[in-house]
Amino acid sequence: MGDLHGYFFLFLIWLISTIFIRAIFKSTSSKPHLPPSPFALPIIGHLHLLAPIPHQAFHKLSLRYGPVFRLFLGSVPCAVACSPETAKEFLKTYEHAYLDRPHNSALAYLTYGSQSFAFAPYGSYWKFMKKIIMSQLLNGTTLDLLLPVRQDELNRFMNTLFQKAKIGKAVDLNGELLKMSNNVISRMLMSERCSENEDEAGEMRKLVTEITEIAGKFNLSDYIWILKNLDLQGFGKRLKDIRRRFDELIDGIIKDHEESRKQGSGKVRDLLNILLDVAEDETMEIKLTREHIKAFILDIFVAGTQSSAITLEWALAELINHPNIMEKAIEEIDQVIGKKRLLQESDIPNLPYLQAIVKETLRLHATGPVILRQSTEDCTVAGYHIPANTTVFINVWALGRDPNHWENPLEFRPERFEQNNVDVRGQHFHIIPFGSGRRICPGTSLSLQMIQTTLGSMIQCFDWKAGEDGNLTSVDMEEGPGITLPRANPLVCIPVARIDPISL
Ligand code: HEM
Ligand SMILES: *[C@@H]1O[C@H](CO)[C@@H](O)[C@H](O)[C@H]1NC(C)=O
Ligand SMILES: *[C@@H]1O[C@H](CO)[C@@H](O)[C@H](O)[C@H]1NC(C)=O
Ligand SMILES: *[C@@H]1O[C@H](CO)[C@@H](O)[C@H](O)[C@H]1NC(C)=O
Ligand SMILES: *[C@@H]1O[C@H](CO)[C@@H](O)[C@H](O)[C@H]1NC(C)=O
Repeated sequence: MGDLHGYFFLFLIWLISTIFIRAIFKSTSSKPHLPPSPFALPIIGHLHLLAPIPHQAFHKLSLRYGPVFRLFLGSVPCAVACSPETAKEFLKTYEHAYLDRPHNSALAYLTYGSQSFAFAPYGSYWKFMKKIIMSQLLNGTTLDLLLPVRQDELNRFMNTLFQKAKIGKAVDLNGELLKMSNNVISRMLMSERCSENEDEAGEMRKLVTEITEIAGKFNLSDYIWILKNLDLQGFGKRLKDIRRRFDELIDGIIKDHEESRKQGSGKVRDLLNILLDVAEDETMEIKLTREHIKAFILDIFVAGTQSSAITLEWALAELINHPNIMEKAIEEIDQVIGKKRLLQESDIPNLPYLQAIVKETLRLHATGPVILRQSTEDCTVAGYHIPANTTVFINVWALGRDPNHWENPLEFRPERFEQNNVDVRGQHFHIIPFGSGRRICPGTSLSLQMIQTTLGSMIQCFDWKAGEDGNLTSVDMEEGPGITLPRANPLVCIPVARIDPISL
């Protein structure tokens, strides 16, 4: 009997909410041309369609519903763009209406109550920070000044690999690459090496991994209004813990900086000192608070470390699976640089094939597979009415695989970039791994430099034998869940030195 009651109750909920959702659909369908939409379930809308990997799910839906379609994630209206033409309309033609980002409770909490730059609405704070970033933090001059930091970290990474090669031991590439990119970002930002002291090293890396994991989860409370103030998934405690640990770590570092600034003991050149300069400057139109600075540091760690490391992992995996391409890349490097010195950032312009390999990797394995935007006004896009306050997903992953724009899209073939000037900086909408327009990734140049130089050095100095025992002839290319497109199975290889490090 109790069971029957339960079922009846569920049935009632279903009935009421179906009628309710139908009513929403009815009232909006009188407006012109809403994009097509799959059948929605009560309360959760289309949330169930997104598992396990949202960009793949979007792609499948687009095969059935076309390049633009509409979803309700819980009660949040969303639009998804899956073709280069429609992406261009959202990001360029009608850019002005899509410059905000959707709300995410976890990130809002972690960034001290939405003090983040990456998730800030397009307004005075965002514009102010963007100007600082482009004119000071990540401008060409600053990046050049910090070149020794990147070079030093690359050398340390290569040393680790030479040690492993000497004893013929396998390397967990994800782990080692993440260590390196974390160290680079951390030193550029605040002159701290994450792995100087293994405890702190592990701590920062763990934090970033936990944050991307938790921020990538669809928070039911964000989407289902009746759950608004409930923490059904029980993440609240974890979030609190993460924020406390991050705060302790960063607070200590900022205090150290302030201390040495007071003592005037030779200001180190790092991004944190530039930010503190800006915060102290009374003539600035916006007063940068300590919360802003901490949230910005979090932004850069979250946006900049995993994405570069995972791109490198995918690139090497592709090269292992395509020995002929690997061979051609090595030939180019041997010809241009030889075996007497290590490849450097300044060599990159002379290595077009290496550049093409990185482009091809970003086409198939964009580590930001979905761009998130939020509409601020009603707009007609691709012939459809998209109301204000719609969350917009641009499926970057699908654009790179669009058969109308790419010949044999699933094939890894860097040669496709040889006879054209297609670049990855947001001008060519069939390959926009860094986004496009005013909210394009400000770390584009930095990460391209890092990725090309690191990959080039890795294949200049080593042959790579795949697998724990080094006897696999190919590796799988399966994607795992997460916002930064991780591999389902981490890449493990044995490096075999091609070059004697002493001769370098
Ligand atoms: C392979 C590496 C990277 C990829 C694939 C990547 C991708 C992206 C994408 C797709 C966006 C959204 C763009 C849009 O909305 O149009 C973005 C934004 C952003 N990225 Fe990156 N990124 C990478 C590395 C970095 C690095 C190294 C940094 C920092 C040093 C960085 C900092 C940021 C920031 C701060 C934003 C937010 C910009 C805004 O909202 O205005 N990224 N990135
Ligand atoms: C880059 O930023 C530095 C400050 O970090 C500044 O001195 C320099 O003039 C800037 N360069 C350009 C080209 O804006
Ligand atoms: C989801 O949102 C609720 C309420 O805003 C919050 O308490 C919870 O910690 C959030 N969880 C995650 C994983 O973001
Ligand atoms: C969009 O949402 C905001 C806040 O949630 C609200 O103030 C505004 O009226 C909404 N705009 C429209 C057109 O619905
Ligand atoms: C690789 O070597 C290991 C240990 O020698 C062996 O167990 C495994 O079957 C081999 N794998 C392949 C694909 O040959």
